[in-house]
Amino acid sequence: MSGEPQARPDGRATAREPDVDGERAQRAGAQPPESTVGVPIFNPFDPAFRADPYPFYAQLREQDPVHVSPFGFTVLTRYEDVSRTLRGAEFSRDVEANAVVQDADTARALRRETLRRRYEAGEAAKSILGLDPPDHTRLRRLVSLAFTPSAIERLRPRVQQLVDDCLDRAADRGSTELVDDLAFPVPFQVISDLLGMPTERSDEIRDWSQTLTGALEPTADHATMEAAELASQQLGAYLREVIDDRREHLGDDLLSQLLLVEDDGDRLLPAELMSFVVLLYVAGHETTVNLIGNGTLALLRHPDELARWRDDPSLDASAVDELLRYDGPVQQTVRIPMQEVRYGDVTVPAGSTVMTVLGAASHDPAMFDDPETLHLDRPNANRHLGFAAGIHYCLGASLAKLEATVAITTLIRRFPGLELAGEPSWRDRLTIRGVGHLPLSW
Ligand code: HEM
Repeated sequence: MSGEPQARPDGRATAREPDVDGERAQRAGAQPPESTVGVPIFNPFDPAFRADPYPFYAQLREQDPVHVSPFGFTVLTRYEDVSRTLRGAEFSRDVEANAVVQDADTARALRRETLRRRYEAGEAAKSILGLDPPDHTRLRRLVSLAFTPSAIERLRPRVQQLVDDCLDRAADRGSTELVDDLAFPVPFQVISDLLGMPTERSDEIRDWSQTLTGALEPTADHATMEAAELASQQLGAYLREVIDDRREHLGDDLLSQLLLVEDDGDRLLPAELMSFVVLLYVAGHETTVNLIGNGTLALLRHPDELARWRDDPSLDASAVDELLRYDGPVQQTVRIPMQEVRYGDVTVPAGSTVMTVLGAASHDPAMFDDPETLHLDRPNANRHLGFAAGIHYCLGASLAKLEATVAITTLIRRFPGLELAGEPSWRDRLTIRGVGHLPLSW
């Protein structure tokens, strides 16, 4: 289908600001479409899509790889298109500044307007993830030293100790719910340690983070956006107290380094520091929890591969890349073309929203042989796009891989008889995809 120029089903211009949000859909009486037959459609409202998006991705990639969604954005599912978009200098990540707003009444547009006003008033700053060069280049240079692979490798003993402590407690009980007992506490404690954050309020912080990331969902409605705004204010108020205190009592943690960081006379402004700390805190655990959860589940569903990794430590350095490729925590992100771009015969206008589906690209048979099967020794697994690509490539990639590798290898070697002790449940999210509960026994 990509051989033909695409038009919206309603005959309007091609994709612009996504107008998909829960209330809009309700007003329009949106129903999950018949997505298994006929024309494939990217429908984030379809529970079957959210439960297992991969068959839907395959259908889109085969039949309509540059899909102009009726919801108003262009959905890319081929590896080549996704990779080119993430790396291309003609695309912006600054959605608030550059996406053309079609309907100022959507939840997403209203939230953007609120954020825009706050940025203009100097009350908040865009996070590094929402910036384009040269601002992005400046911030990334200031913060990247703490995340080099060698700096992260120094955390290995602490990560191992945390994993061992969690598994000691599980061993005493004789069973575990992996998400609450291991996959959440380890990354949460590591990012808290790194930043030198107290952990007494971890339950509240976990709730705020989960509520905040709800705003990333393509289905987010007004209530979700309002809840995200409240959570962001609560998390911000808490972090402001910690930052103010740290300014008075500097330590050897990352937060103290960020308060002092200076490069050619350049420093982080207070609002920049705050938004970076929020991003680190949220990205530091909301995603890695799902790599440990989804990865462990994938192994349990491929027992031969699990046994192979358990018995062969030479796989430790690379197997986690295949888990990221196979069922990664971040399924999609967006870019805004700053000029008209073409994918084959499809023209996408400047200012429209292009959704790059990372999970679909990482399952493209043009790049990965037998993509729907887990092969821990896949030679090119590290070409997955689970950490995106280009200038916004995940800053925490080394840390996430270290945490997941230590957690999963320790788990499967300590409990060789590991098995599912009940049906796993999935969190009802599409952008950040993760197992909600994973009961295990041995
Ligand atoms: C498995 C775990 C993780 C996954 C799958 C993941 C995925 C991603 C992806 C896809 C992006 C790029 C998004 C885009 O281009 O729109 C990103 C950016 C980022 N990630 Fe991660 N992430 C993970 C863990 C972490 C951790 C542990 C940290 C920090 C401690 C972190 C910090 C960041 C930051 C700061 C950025 C923004 C980089 C920039 O804009 O230059 N991430 N991550």
